[in-house]
This record gives sequence, C-alpha cells and structure tokens, in this order.
Amino acid sequence: MKRQPLRLAILEAIRILEAAGVESPRTDAELIAAHVLGVERGRLPLVPLVDPPVIDAIGKLVTERAKRVPLQYLTGWAALGPITVEVGPGVFIPRPETELLLEWGLALLRGRTNPIVVDLCTGSGALALAVAHAMPDAVVYAVDSDPHALAWARHNADVRAEAGDTPIRLYSGDVGDDTIFAELDGLVDLVLCNPPYVPPGGELPPEVLDYDPPQAVFAADGGLAVIRQAVATAARLLKPGGGLAIEHDDTHGSVVPALVTARKVLTAVEDHPDLTGRPRFVTARRL
Ligand SMILES: C[S@@+](CC[C@H](N)C(=O)[O-])C[C@H]1O[C@@H](n2cnc3c(N)ncnc32)[C@H](O)[C@@H]1O
Repeated sequence: MKRQPLRLAILEAIRILEAAGVESPRTDAELIAAHVLGVERGRLPLVPLVDPPVIDAIGKLVTERAKRVPLQYLTGWAALGPITVEVGPGVFIPRPETELLLEWGLALLRGRTNPIVVDLCTGSGALALAVAHAMPDAVVYAVDSDPHALAWARHNADVRAEAGDTPIRLYSGDVGDDTIFAELDGLVDLVLCNPPYVPPGGELPPEVLDYDPPQAVFAADGGLAVIRQAVATAARLLKPGGGLAIEHDDTHGSVVPALVTARKVLTAVEDHPDLTGRPRFVTARRL
C-alpha cells in the first residue's frame, strides 16, 4: 500500500468542488480532509502522506459535496460561536452570520445575574446552547414548532448538558401563539430569534433549496410573517431594560427596524450588518 501526498488529494478535491460551483472549494476540501483524518484543519500541513483508504474516503465525500450536499451534513456538525452542534437532514444548519447576533446578546447579558433568555425558533438549539455555554447562570428557554428540528435540539441539548453546560428548557410551540411562555411575561432579559425570513420564490443555492427544511428558510408575507410574531412575543416577554435581537433577510434592513419601532414599548432600535456587510439583524431594548 503506497502512501500518497495529502496535498495532491486536496488539490484534486478543490478542482472538483470548483467545477461543481461550490462557493468555497478550498475551505470545503480542507475541512473534508480534516474530518476524514480526525485532525483540525490547521494541522493538515503536518500530515504529508496518507494511506490509500484515506484518499478513497476523501474522494467519496468530495463526490457528495460536488452534488451540493451541505458540508455540515457530511461532517455532521456546525459551529456557532463557542460551541458545535450536530446537524443533518431535518434541521437548519447554523450560519456564521448568526454569530454577531449571539455576540450582541451575550454583551447585553454581561453583569446580569441569573438572566432569563428565550430563543424563539431554536432549530438545532444552537443559539440557546451557545448562551447556556457562555453564561452558566442563565436560565435559557428555547422553542420550535417543527418536531424534526426539536429532535435535533433535544439531542444537542443532551450532549451539551453531558459536557457540563447548564441544561436548557426546550419546548414545542409556535411563535405566533400569543400565550407562549405566558409565565415569563415581563421577566425576560434577552430574546434572541433567527426565524425563517427568506421571501418565498427567492433564488438560493442548492445546499439551501434542496436540504434546509423549507419551514426553516421561507416565511409568508414576503418573509416577514414569523418576524412579526416574534416582535410581538418579545415585546410581551421582555422586562424593562431587556434586549431583543432578530435576524432578517438582507433586503429587510429598513422594513424590520420599522416593524420593531412600531411597537411603542421597544426603543433603541438599531440594525446591524453581518460579516459580509449586509443588513442582517435588528436589536432593540424594552422601555
Ligand atoms: C432559520 S431556522 C433557525 C434555527 C436556529 N435558530 C439557528 O440560528 O440555527 C428557523 C427555525 O424556526 C422554526 N420555525 C418556523 N416557524 C416557526 C414558528 N411559527 N414558531 C416556532 N418555530 C418556527 C423552524 O422549524 C426552524 O427550526
């Protein structure tokens, strides 16, 4: 069994992924190689030669990725801030753009003791679990309406709790239900929400259209239906001085702040760009 240069396998993977239209061929090729070898991406240069079965395993995953199966389905995980969550069919893959929303929320919590946090539309549980990890004394509630997403969130919550994080409180429910979390009315320090917000009919890459659950991506009313419900729910739940952060479509950099401003109890409304500079999330404080 003749060992082969890993570098050549990665170059071949980049060529295949580029031809398939994958957005970040080098990153994906290296992450696939790192996954197969069980090492961190930054350590790949320390692995000059690999056995043929490793080359085969990389090749198989590259073939799948070239069919535009999301990278995270192949590796089985996605990162959000300080944590990783397991993902796969039936659940939305957390995106890097949500990290800034998380950071805003964590900054708001600094200095608060036993803050109450609600994650509306939790999906894999990523935002709720990242808060519970960063703020062990926070009491974190999370809700989603999709049983498939909730199964992933339950699994991820169990994994994080076994790793020593404070357990989160996970619920099945609809953000549009105006009695949801009624016992928390006026008590919540922070509401985070990354809802479905893409206007139906929008152009999206195959990784999203063919794999993310549609109810996690698209929302009626031009992408605003769930955001409207989340704003109403947050206005009810937040205590004075509490904060709200909601992610939105990059075409909604004016309309979503206007929606939030229309709630007279919400103030200091501000829109924020994502890592690529596009309008991405709105924040506000409860009067
Ligand atoms: C974009 S995903 C976000 C998941 C997670 N917060 C994240 O950032 O990775 C939106 C989630 O909202 C859920 N969802 C959609 N409509 C909902 C509703 N009306 N009430 C509660 N959850 C809803 C979907 O099932 C999906 O899991």
